Amino acid sequence: MTLTMNTITYEKQGFIGILTINRPKAMNAFNNEVVTEVYVCLESLVKTDIRCLIVTGAGDKAFVAGADIREMQHLNPSEAAAFSRAGNAVMALLEDFPVPIIAAINGYAMGGGCELALSCDIRIASENAVFAFPEVGLGIIPGFGGAQRLARIIGIGNAKELIYTTNRITAQDALRVGLVNAVHPQEQLIDKCMEMAEKIAANAPTAVRVAKDVINKSMGMELHQSYGLEVLPFSACFLTNDRRMAMDAFVEKRPKDAFSGT
Ligand code: CAA
Repeated sequence: MTLTMNTITYEKQGFIGILTINRPKAMNAFNNEVVTEVYVCLESLVKTDIRCLIVTGAGDKAFVAGADIREMQHLNPSEAAAFSRAGNAVMALLEDFPVPIIAAINGYAMGGGCELALSCDIRIASENAVFAFPEVGLGIIPGFGGAQRLARIIGIGNAKELIYTTNRITAQDALRVGLVNAVHPQEQLIDKCMEMAEKIAANAPTAVRVAKDVINKSMGMELHQSYGLEVLPFSACFLTNDRRMAMDAFVEKRPKDAFSGT
């Protein structure tokens, strides 16, 4: 399945989906149209057979250079609230998306672009990627859940420094603070992300989905409250054909079949 909208494209290669934000002339900035189209595309994918999704930006300069400042320039507070709500809904849809999402960060990830990356499960950057939260320099704050997610991922001290200073950091600095999982030369970025996506897609689909759900749920809990969270989901995996096949193959010392997702 392929899908082309005004500001995004979607294609599928085997079990892997690739969603590209496609406004290269505006550094793929998030205007209302992008936010709506990403939402519509993601909703249409929830029930497909993809096992991993890659999100990236068109061109070789920007992943997403944040919210569209030309559009925000004219917003009143209630329009700003609607924009923030819509952006938050997209980020929540990504975070709760049933299968893992890899952000392939191929250039500038500013403001809302960083927020997009933070809503994905795994972030892989190209060497030329640049990260920043420029919002307070524009008289606003991150509006798509970025402050909350950033603090959870890189720690509150690092998050406050990035947000209060608006400092730009390189891909290597992002790696050092744990904002990204890996850095690759730009020309290898998509191949490296595909490699990881294929590895994920080759594992038992139900188990991967359940693992994502349990990890996400546990992030909202105190550690002691989360004990036992996995008992029901763990036991539910025992109903699957994939679990039976993989364990039988191990015990019988033979290679596993491909996982069927059942
Ligand atoms: N909104 C609107 N247009 C943008 C944009 C944005 N966020 N970022 C870049 N563009 C446009 C530029 O206006 C320019 O358009 P024109 O050619 O029509 O003039 C085009 O993209 C290319 O940009 P530059 O000429 O500036 O390219 P550069 O290589 O010199 O700089 C950049 C690249 C560092 C990303 C710079 O464009 C920049 O700083 N962009 C703004 C980044 C920013 O502040 N983003 C945060 C927005 S706030 C936010 O995201 C709030 C939220 O939480 C939701």
